[in-house]
Amino acid sequence: MSRLNRTVSVAPMMDCTDKHERFFLRLISKNVLLYTEMIVSEAIDRGDKKKLLEFDMREKPVALQLGGSSPKLLANASKTGENFGYDEINLNLGCPSKKVQKNKFGACLIKEPNLVADCLSEMVNATSLPVTVKTRIGYDNVDHYENLYNFVNILKRTGVKTFIIHARKAMLGKFTPKQNLNIPPLKYDYVYKLKRDFSDLEIIINGGVTSVSEVENHLEKVDGVMIGRSVYHSPYLLAEIENQIFNNFDVLSRQDIIEKLIVYVKQEIKKGTRLNQIMRHTLGLFHGQNGSSYWKRYLSENMCVRDADISKIDHIMDKVKPNSQNISAGQID
Ligand SMILES: Cc1cc2nc3c(=O)[nH]c(=O)nc-3n(C[C@H](O)[C@H](O)[C@H](O)COP(=O)(O)O)c2cc1C
Repeated sequence: MSRLNRTVSVAPMMDCTDKHERFFLRLISKNVLLYTEMIVSEAIDRGDKKKLLEFDMREKPVALQLGGSSPKLLANASKTGENFGYDEINLNLGCPSKKVQKNKFGACLIKEPNLVADCLSEMVNATSLPVTVKTRIGYDNVDHYENLYNFVNILKRTGVKTFIIHARKAMLGKFTPKQNLNIPPLKYDYVYKLKRDFSDLEIIINGGVTSVSEVENHLEKVDGVMIGRSVYHSPYLLAEIENQIFNNFDVLSRQDIIEKLIVYVKQEIKKGTRLNQIMRHTLGLFHGQNGSSYWKRYLSENMCVRDADISKIDHIMDKVKPNSQNISAGQID
């Protein structure tokens, strides 16, 4: 099995990194690793596995992110994920929401390293895929580097070799999820030190990265960079990353991406997917370009058509299909 390239990855984001977003991002970037939204192991156990886990093989490589704290259910979910064709299984130890805490998964598990180690051991035994961890640098007042060091030291004994570190602590019960993504300060030094102290581990840094030059700076100190919101809001950042990080200059233009996406949209509409379930992810495609607000407005006004049939889709997509002229003139319609 070839080793996964984690030099740059797109972060798991609930309500964002679903299969349609991943298909769209893969049209822009061949090389980044994509993550699913967090899927709870109990849901996989009891729910419709196909609905939760099925994806288009053209999205690969894709890592499945799991939430949970039952070693048995997480092990079963890891095996199921492998059978569905995922490339990595990741355990979420960073989500601070109250609901998640109530169900005992996410960032509150940083308090229970031995339970997490049990979960990871079972997961590693259940699958031949790499099992990885995504966590924060600490929680509440437990935010000294030594705590992070000890946590990783316990978890590495399970055989897990890749740690994705969101360089902020989680304030459990105090902040909303949104505040928890913005208020606790970023402490990149913790992550750099972790790499120095555990040179045998693959350490991926996450949090607040917005540009290729920041990616390049981090890569001098750690093994990989994970980006979330900047890619969601400005997906064509991945084209720059392809050029400058992966030396890949064979990247589609924004127009060509939309052309290819239309083919996918048509396939998906036939399966019952709604137009806005796909196109909402493309709102930021023209971010920073002249006329980008027209693209956003046109999509917002037209992508929510109900009971869209293919002929309607053709009509709408013909109108939104951008070309350099109408985008720069700000005239999509
Ligand atoms: C809308 C949204 C949903 C998120 N959902 C998840 C999730 O399901 N699992 C997870 O580990 N992190 C989740 N996160 C956190 C991101 O993966 C990432 O750690 C965080 O946004 C910091 O990276 P960034 O500054 O590059 O966005 C989410 C973040 C956002 C903005």
